[in-house]
Amino acid sequence: MTALTLSTAAAPGLRADAIVIGVAKGAKGPVVAPGAEAVDKAYDGRLAGVLETLGAAGAEGEVTKLPAPSGFKAPLVVAVGLGSEPEKDSAYDAEALRKAAGAAARALTGAKKAAFALPVGDASDIGAIGEGVLLGAYSFDAYKNNAPSNSAAKDKNGKAPLAEASLLGGKPRDKEHKAAVDRAIAVAEELNRARDLINTPPNDLDPEAFAAVATAAAKEHGIKVQVLDVKALEKGGYGGILGVGAGSAAGPRLVKLSYTSSKAKKHLALVGKGITYDSGGISLKPAGHNETMKCDMSGAAAVFAAVVAVARLGLEVNVTGWLALAENMPSGSATRPGDVLRMYSGKTVEVLNTDAEGRLVLADALWAASAEKPDAIVDVATLTGAMMLALGSRTFGIMANDDAFRSAVHEAAEEVGEPAWPMPLPEHLRKGMDSPTADIANMGERMGGGLVAGLFLREFVGEGITWAHLDIAGPAFNEGGPFGYTPKGGTGTAVRTLVRLAELSASGDLG
Ligand code: BES
Ligand code: MN
Ligand code: ZN
Repeated sequence: MTALTLSTAAAPGLRADAIVIGVAKGAKGPVVAPGAEAVDKAYDGRLAGVLETLGAAGAEGEVTKLPAPSGFKAPLVVAVGLGSEPEKDSAYDAEALRKAAGAAARALTGAKKAAFALPVGDASDIGAIGEGVLLGAYSFDAYKNNAPSNSAAKDKNGKAPLAEASLLGGKPRDKEHKAAVDRAIAVAEELNRARDLINTPPNDLDPEAFAAVATAAAKEHGIKVQVLDVKALEKGGYGGILGVGAGSAAGPRLVKLSYTSSKAKKHLALVGKGITYDSGGISLKPAGHNETMKCDMSGAAAVFAAVVAVARLGLEVNVTGWLALAENMPSGSATRPGDVLRMYSGKTVEVLNTDAEGRLVLADALWAASAEKPDAIVDVATLTGAMMLALGSRTFGIMANDDAFRSAVHEAAEEVGEPAWPMPLPEHLRKGMDSPTADIANMGERMGGGLVAGLFLREFVGEGITWAHLDIAGPAFNEGGPFGYTPKGGTGTAVRTLVRLAELSASGDLG
């Protein structure tokens, strides 16, 4: 990953491939953002005009490259759009900085070193810029023969991500600034690892392989890990996870990651949907709906990344991560529509549609998580196409059995720059899942399908436990072009919200 440092150096003397500056949309055209004073000065104070001549407006995501003024050691200036200029006396929004840093890092693919001279108010701005750089520079090229990072590369024509970023305007000796950089590195490294897992093709990442990656990372970071294999799942009666995995040649797993702090006062449980490939099972998905279904383990990847990040940050809270891993495939041994599963909770479920598999694996993991009586459970899942229809491809839905907790989760998501929106759990939708044969069916009314799924999950949360459900089906996997610090493919959405929730829990500010 890109190396990140703080620097007090002045822009002109910096040996780098480029200096990144900010340009905002002002009332009368582009304005040069604070941090770029030295560059503007070397342009005789005419930089805003120069940028306007080049067509820059300061819009979000806009990247304008221009030659550095004489006297600068770096040859290139990259002016990146910050969106509308903030009102007088107010600071640039952290998310605008994060996005701009990401867009600049992407534009600098192939470069060795860049200096970021973006506006810095406080330590949290340093953190946002750092995150933006590290997340924006991400690329997944493990399967590309021309990748420079690939030791077996036949041709080395591919470009490597930006190798080094130096943040100007930060204070390397300031405790808060240093902590902000350390936090950005820990969170972004683990988030990028989640992206790698999501992008890894399903023939190379089955439940067993995912469990092995989690086990190795847990050992490295002092997290206790427990893997339930098929035998253990059978012994324990995990009918949901086993039922979903029954059609696959690769058996399911339930992974439990326990991070504990001696100073913890709270216990947060995180549950992730980890379908390493969702073919739909016997209720097979039609062609066109299955090419990206390697992303169906994004919830588990987010939970895994968040637990490791929390451990690296040494937060004073106990966090348990549950990864419900299975591959949903059709075969002679697969669960059929009409089968009844006896779940870990003891409830019976009539499987009407084997493509509604996420709720089945989550149900067992939620019940297992509930047994430890945590202060709160948050599950994360690419659960329904319906949530994608409702909220689009950049926003995840939040449902909960507690209104205040749902609001707290929403606030945390906003704080870290993850678009999310609260969704209801309307009681009247529950009866649509009534089954003539079993306690409940795994499908109900089509309308409001995302909420129906949430209501199903609620049945498997232990009595009295605060719970929220994040349906990330929309933002988990970016099928469009990259934007801001979001790449094409796996996005790692929800990781930052989960880490923030753990921080809030540690400081006693989460319910
Ligand atoms: N993994 C899918 C949901 C999904 C769809 C995620 C598109 C990301 C992008 C999930 O398992 C599923 O198939 N849900 C069904 C449920 C239905 C059968 C009740 C759906 O949403 O169609
Ligand atoms: Mn499915
Ligand atoms: Zn699925």
